[in-house]
Amino acid sequence: MTSMRGIVLAGGTATRLYPATLGISKQLLPIYNKPMVYYPISLLMLAGIRDILIISTPHDLPGFRRLLGDGSAMGVRFQYAEQPRPGGLAEAFIVGRDFIGDAPVCLVLGDNILHGAGLAELLQQAAAEPSGCTLFGYRVTTPERYGVAELDAHNKVLSIEEKPAHPKSNIAVTGLYFYDNRVVEMARTLAPSPRGELEITDINNLYVKDGSARLAVLGRGYAWLDTGTHDSFLDAANFVQVLERRQGVYLAALEEIAFRMGFINAAQLAMLGDAMKQTDYGRYLLAVARGEA
Ligand code: DAU
Repeated sequence: MTSMRGIVLAGGTATRLYPATLGISKQLLPIYNKPMVYYPISLLMLAGIRDILIISTPHDLPGFRRLLGDGSAMGVRFQYAEQPRPGGLAEAFIVGRDFIGDAPVCLVLGDNILHGAGLAELLQQAAAEPSGCTLFGYRVTTPERYGVAELDAHNKVLSIEEKPAHPKSNIAVTGLYFYDNRVVEMARTLAPSPRGELEITDINNLYVKDGSARLAVLGRGYAWLDTGTHDSFLDAANFVQVLERRQGVYLAALEEIAFRMGFINAAQLAMLGDAMKQTDYGRYLLAVARGEA
């Protein structure tokens, strides 16, 4: 089987963050010391995925290219594709069809920030599943804003509803999804929802119906951060700052992850750190390369 592909969907207009996002894509804005898109990319890399497609608007895609390049410096391969209009999350599998080929694929939304001990292992387990889909659930106080999972007593998914007025549980489905290759065909045959989008929830329900959807509920030790409003955006940055300052280890430092995953060696990591050594971030990478962090 071809190795799993990763897609970061980083389009949309982020009108809820205007005027902050009038001139620049939300996912290029920094969460504390690194661009937001580093966080979802870190999840793909921790899962062991090295072929990554970045999808964004025609207007914003050049910014992502400038930021990330072809990925070779970090031992990964970044490719880029345009989504002309925000036609829904499931459109990622239509835009990314050739990129995916006959491989399984992991989709992550460009504004999803997930953090917690043991996450890398969970991601690698999900990536190793030969068939079906793996979703991640997270308990929230405002389920009506998300896809919501209805679960039986054994945490088996019975259904998923998109932004239900009367949620059947508090478990939101996060924006990180692992699929077998059937997802490409499922997306092709999907009809737009009443809000005119190809819904990821419709795809997930196809997997639920054929009994091959798994849902891993992330417990209270995990953080799934919201960045949808000015306040939650700042909260997310403060969260990252608190953890990094207190522990002296960084969240979603892609260069470090590339090194720890064996995609690059210490000398390559040191070069990346050296290019940013006027910042704490760069000096941190240098310390990791020396085996001191
Ligand atoms: O964050 C998790 C939630 O994401 C799930 O619980 C929902 O089931 C899922 O539908 C989605 O919720 P929203 O509909 O609220 O997602 P939103 O429209 O905010 O889009 C999520 C991100 O994807 C956002 O950064 C913009 C980007 N996007 C969105 C659409 C619709 C695209 O790049 N292209 C698109 O076509």
